[in-house]
Amino acid sequence: MAGQPIFILKEGSKRTRGRDAQSNNIMAAKAVAEAVRTTLGPKGMDKMLVDSMGDVVITNDGATILKEMDIEHPAAKMVVEVAKTQDEEVGDGTTSAAVVAGELLKKAEDLIEQEIHPTIIASGYRLAAEKAVEVLNSLAMTVEMSDRNLLISIAETAMTGKGAESSKKLLSKIAVDAVTSVVDTTDGKNSVERDNINVVKKVGGRVEDSELIRGMIIDKERIHPNMPQKIKDAKIILLNTAIELKDTEVDAEISITSPDQLQSFLDQEEQMLKRIVQKVIGSGANVVFCQKGIEDLAQHYLAKAGIFAVRRVKKSDMEKLARATGGNLITNLDEVTPEDLGYAGLVEEKKVGGDNMTFVTGCNNPKAVTILLRGGTEHVVDSVTSALEDALRVVAVAIEDEKLVAGGGSPEVEVALRLQEYAATLEGREQLAVKAYAEALEVIPRTLAENAGLDPIDMLMELRSQHEKGIKTAGLDVFEGKVVDMWKNFVVEPLRVKTQVINAATESAVMILRIDDIIASTRTAGPEDMGGMGGMPPGMGGMGGMPPGMM
Ligand SMILES: Nc1ncnc2c1ncn2[C@@H]1O[C@H](COP(=O)(O)OP(=O)(O)OP(=O)(O)O)[C@@H](O)[C@H]1O
Ligand SMILES: [Mg+2]
Repeated sequence: MAGQPIFILKEGSKRTRGRDAQSNNIMAAKAVAEAVRTTLGPKGMDKMLVDSMGDVVITNDGATILKEMDIEHPAAKMVVEVAKTQDEEVGDGTTSAAVVAGELLKKAEDLIEQEIHPTIIASGYRLAAEKAVEVLNSLAMTVEMSDRNLLISIAETAMTGKGAESSKKLLSKIAVDAVTSVVDTTDGKNSVERDNINVVKKVGGRVEDSELIRGMIIDKERIHPNMPQKIKDAKIILLNTAIELKDTEVDAEISITSPDQLQSFLDQEEQMLKRIVQKVIGSGANVVFCQKGIEDLAQHYLAKAGIFAVRRVKKSDMEKLARATGGNLITNLDEVTPEDLGYAGLVEEKKVGGDNMTFVTGCNNPKAVTILLRGGTEHVVDSVTSALEDALRVVAVAIEDEKLVAGGGSPEVEVALRLQEYAATLEGREQLAVKAYAEALEVIPRTLAENAGLDPIDMLMELRSQHEKGIKTAGLDVFEGKVVDMWKNFVVEPLRVKTQVINAATESAVMILRIDDIIASTRTAGPEDMGGMGGMPPGMGGMGGMPPGMM
């Protein structure tokens, strides 16, 4: 047997084991965290991401950056997942989650060097996370849906430092009004259906021209200039079918031998179309939203009947219209009943940024609202949209949970302090892991200070000393460079954002730590995968696809 090599892996497979595997993974995960670190906080910078098609995205949002970066390394991908999960669960805190995950791994690396086994670190981290969530819960304050100003502060905190900076006051109000109008309360529990809030982007004008519409906006104009521009007490028919003559399905040839015959043929067609239009009119509707086409002649008849009609409405808009107006989508005009019609107080065509749009307001269902977002260029509108998206999510989460904590690094410093005390009660090496966890959380206030050009060491010392004195909401005023009471500064965030950061970052750090063997089979493509970080399995090389200068 001796000397006989045994192959258990496919030819070309690469295997990295033990310490190498760990440090390899940790290095990659840290690199990801490092890549988004500079965007954290009100003074964080933005990133410009250019994809292979040359499309440009300018963003500050952790999840978006990591998604666009097209990361290859498997462990690095796990950190990307943390940000993604954070985004799905609460919509904010994605940068924090990635940064904390990276820092947890960095601290773990130090411990591994001190010969502490990764499983001990993992269990220490788990204990610490449990305790951290406990402390966060104890810090939480209650917010009620009726406290509009507090909700506005939550929205403002989420939008600070994002593209919407200059108009964040207005947008925060819009976000709060939008969310509060779609809240559903059953058995004393609030829930927010995000889909009830539509966001319509329109380039042109200024961000300050954005507004909340109680109803729907369809980015289409009425099809005939002779139609009324405004219909009050709108009875709306939602058509899934076209108002035109169907082409015959069999190949038929009609031979016409005289002009009279031609005329009668055309007359007949006209009659048929008239009958279809008659059915629409007969339904009692005065507004038509049609997902398909409406023939010219039919347009003329509809206009003559004083009906407001829009054609080629997007399917998703049709569904939203159905929900908002309480109407049913009609596929067969012969079966329309008055109950199928939807209702809106007003349907009106208005000019927005040079284009005509149809506004449907005073709907049957008051829970349908639309935010009309304006902005000078497409990039402005996009970045305002993503900031607003964060605001909508945090306000919704705050209303659902009714729990808040102060921001600006204050919860992280408080939790770190409590964890240090907790560590002292533990025995053995887990104590070191819990301590490391506490230190790792301080990456948030430290980074907030660094990104604001402040001295991170001074700031952390001041923060710790205030927390030791019992000021639990002491955080960093990054604009003044001082430690202040964040609660009084109206920097507040939903509790769930913070607990989710703890849970998601811990889980992924632990998962990465527990890996001590990487077996990667060769992939066929990807020359850029080669020559990455030395000695790494294929596909693990560097951060393929990242624009230069992103680290
Ligand atoms: N006015 C402020 N003063 C001090 N800190 C603030 C202020 N506004 C927000 N913060 C802090 O900034 C941090 C959030 O920064 P940022 O929004 O850039 O990242 P994130 O929420 O972790 O991720 P993302 O928003 O990209 O999903 C939080 O710790 C928050 O408390
Ligand atoms: Mg944020």
